[in-house]
Amino acid sequence: MTIKNICCIGAGYVGGPTMSVIAQKCPNIKVTVVDINEDRIAAWNHKDLSRLPVYEPGLDKVVEEARGRNLFFSTEVDKAINDADMIFISVNTPTKTYGKGKGMAADLKYIELCARQIARVAKQDKIVVEKSTLPVRTASAIKSILENTGNGVQFQILSNPEFLAEGTAVQDLLHPDRVLIGGDTTQEGQKAIQALVDIYANWIPNERILTTNVWSSELSKLTANAFLAQRVSSINAMSVICENTGADINEVSKAIGMDSRIGPKFLKASVGFGGSCFQKDILNLVYIAKTYGLDEVADYWEQVVLMNDYQKNRFSDNIVSTLYNTVSGKKITFFGWAFKKDTNDTRESAAIKVADNLLSEKANLSVYDPKVTEERIYADLDYLNSRSEEENRKLLKVQNNPYNAIKNSHAIAILTEWDEFKTYDWQKIYDNMHKPAFIFDGRGILDTKALSKIGFICYKIGSATTV
Ligand code: UDX
Ligand code: ADP
Repeated sequence: MTIKNICCIGAGYVGGPTMSVIAQKCPNIKVTVVDINEDRIAAWNHKDLSRLPVYEPGLDKVVEEARGRNLFFSTEVDKAINDADMIFISVNTPTKTYGKGKGMAADLKYIELCARQIARVAKQDKIVVEKSTLPVRTASAIKSILENTGNGVQFQILSNPEFLAEGTAVQDLLHPDRVLIGGDTTQEGQKAIQALVDIYANWIPNERILTTNVWSSELSKLTANAFLAQRVSSINAMSVICENTGADINEVSKAIGMDSRIGPKFLKASVGFGGSCFQKDILNLVYIAKTYGLDEVADYWEQVVLMNDYQKNRFSDNIVSTLYNTVSGKKITFFGWAFKKDTNDTRESAAIKVADNLLSEKANLSVYDPKVTEERIYADLDYLNSRSEEENRKLLKVQNNPYNAIKNSHAIAILTEWDEFKTYDWQKIYDNMHKPAFIFDGRGILDTKALSKIGFICYKIGSATTV
């Protein structure tokens, strides 16, 4: 079975970059990415490549090479489904905000709508690939919808979870540690698996392409994210001990990371992990465990999220207590709003919670992020419903220049580890702030010794405060 035509439903942070790289590496396959969001598709088709809806280093070049050749972005969902031999489902699966499993289970309504749409439209046999992060056994739900509502055509369902991390998506797609493909153990299932293996084999060495059964593949994705998030919460738990005892978290991270059994990655203490996956996937895992009556397992994983909440709250609490127990009417500047550097994504960003806490203390916030739009920042805050939209706009101002942002601030808080923050003229910044001038480095990226020499009072996550 040779795939000639791919359709991907969902042109977001996963679908967009993944399909762009597949199209770049497989010029003989036509790849059409569809989305119901017309603005998003228009942005993917924008001739100015700096206006793509997803910011990822190197993505503009990949899109430039493939777009119009064998990569297309469109809102014609039915047509693309009908024309395709293989359909990737890459729509969002947020945590449920209502009903059973509220706040924990994944909301699968977008996935189900896709499955029903595929069933309605498809006139020939198709391979359907789940790309979105999904709870275990979603494939069987998709299969049941397709088989019971379809036009009698045959569907094979594969699970092919995405492991790309935002900010390094293009590199992760070009050189993945592994590609995981789960499928049925039947002969037809194995053929479908092979068809997808053949696509990836265009640029990925065979030994890095792993095939499993569907459920192992689905559970592996949740497990990988749970383990990664757990490492961040573990190092963040140690950062509090460091602050209380005079040890330094960077030294501790280095020391333990040199143990080859532990390894050096994902040991960076921070104001808390964000992103669309970690919290959602762990809560999903917690929900699955509870469903099976495995309360101890559920409690174990839930603690990773509780620790993360604690880390965000203690960061804002520390700002309030350090600024003499009141931030009411004081100006605090945020450098960074994205959940990590090199992305314009803000989903679950620690900055949102820290801002919300400080706004509740009546602080005035000034926010500068090199890639996040003003519209996005207000949308993130309004979504919380903590205060009126007018109040959010009155108390928080978004700036597009860091030096304007800090004017007359009492404190600066680093919420994202953007590289440019390290090279600012910190003397100039100090000169334009109220004194004493405070810095709260939630990412541990600044040279606090040099900043203290200038006169700043510095708090760095996981280190003793330096004056
Ligand atoms: C994650 C997984 O890494 C990826 O494989 C999966 O496909 C999607 O979820 P992503 O959320 O895009 O990717 O970014 P990641 O680099 O994992 O960072 C997640 C969060 O953890 C960020 O807020 C980041 O700042 C934080 N983090 C990460 C730390 O605080 N410390 C670290 O050492 C590493
Ligand atoms: P992810 O990070 O998983 O890629 P995003 O929210 O960035 O998530 O992207 C998911 C995309 O899927 C959105 O652009 C949304 O409009 C799109 N989408 C959701 N449901 C459908 C659907 N039924 N048909 C087409 N597109 C859809």
